Amino acid sequence: VRNRVIVVGSANADLVVAVDRRPGAGETVLGADTVVLPGGKGANTAVAAGKLGARVALFGAVGTDAHGQLLLDSLRNAGVDTALVRTVDRPTGIAYITVTPDGENSIIVSPGANSAVADIEPTMLDTAAVVVGSLEIPLPVVEHAMAAAAAHGARPVLNLSPATEVSAATLAVLDPLVVNEHEASWLLGGRTGAATELATELRTLGPRSVLITLGARGAVVADDQGTIEVPAPSVRAVDTTGAGDAFAGALAAALAGGAGLAEAARQASRVAAISVTKPGAQPSYPLASELGNAGT
Ligand code: RIB
Ligand code: NA
Repeated sequence: VRNRVIVVGSANADLVVAVDRRPGAGETVLGADTVVLPGGKGANTAVAAGKLGARVALFGAVGTDAHGQLLLDSLRNAGVDTALVRTVDRPTGIAYITVTPDGENSIIVSPGANSAVADIEPTMLDTAAVVVGSLEIPLPVVEHAMAAAAAHGARPVLNLSPATEVSAATLAVLDPLVVNEHEASWLLGGRTGAATELATELRTLGPRSVLITLGARGAVVADDQGTIEVPAPSVRAVDTTGAGDAFAGALAAALAGGAGLAEAARQASRVAAISVTKPGAQPSYPLASELGNAGT
C-alpha cells in the first residue's frame, strides 16, 4: 500500500544557547549553557510525522561523529525508518541557534554531511504517499525528488525553507507549496498583504495548492476548492524553533492518512502550536496520544 511519508532533507545537531539579546557586529554577549539537540528541517519533519504514528522514512545524510548518532537515535526513537540515511565522511550538519526570551530564534546552519545528499532512486518512492522536501540539502536533489514523486504517483510537498529560488517546473507539481509569510512575500518579489491574497497570488506561480503558515494565527490553504483560513490554538510560545517543520511533518502524516488538505492543515496547526510551548524542536513534538488537550 502507498501510505509512506518520505522526507527528503537535512539532519543537524542543534547547538542551542539562550541569550537575553543577540550580539551586534563586533559585540560579545554571554548566554546560558549550550544544549545539544537533534534537529535539521528534514529530520524534524520526519520525527514530527513519526511521533504521530505515520509510516515515515528520512532520505538524508549524517557524519560518522557523535552528532550523527544523536540524530539516528532520535529518528529511531520516533519510529522513523533510517535505512535511507547515509553515513558519510563529513561532519554532521550543525545549526548554531540563539533563542531570546520572546521565544524567537536565529540560526546559522553549517550543512556538512547534508551537502552529500544525492538524488533519490525512484524505486524508493514505490510505497510513498507523500514526499516532503525542504531546502537545507542541495537544491537539485530536492527538485529531482519533487519531480520523481509526481511521476511516481506520490504527493510532492515542499516546505520552502530556508527561502530558495526553485524552478517553475518544480513549483508546478507541488501539492502543496508550504511557506510562511516571509517566504510567501519573498516569492512574490516583496509583496505584502492579507495572507489569503498572497495565497491566491502564489497559486498563479503554478503550484496545485498553497499553504501559508501564520504562526499563532494559524494557516491559509488555497487550492481548486477555494481559499480557507485555518485557526491555531492560542498558546504561550517558549521556543518556536522547528515549529514549521512540525507543521510540515504533521501535514504529511495527515495527508498520507487520507485527510484532505484543509483538515491536514488544521491538524498540523495544532501540532505546531504544541511544539512552541516546549524548548527545542524534536523533543517538543507531540505524540498522537498528546493531541487531545491542545484545544481547537
Ligand atoms: O527549522 C528548524 C531547524 O532549522 C533547526 O532544527 C535547525 O537544525 C535548522 O535546520
Ligand atoms: Na519547541
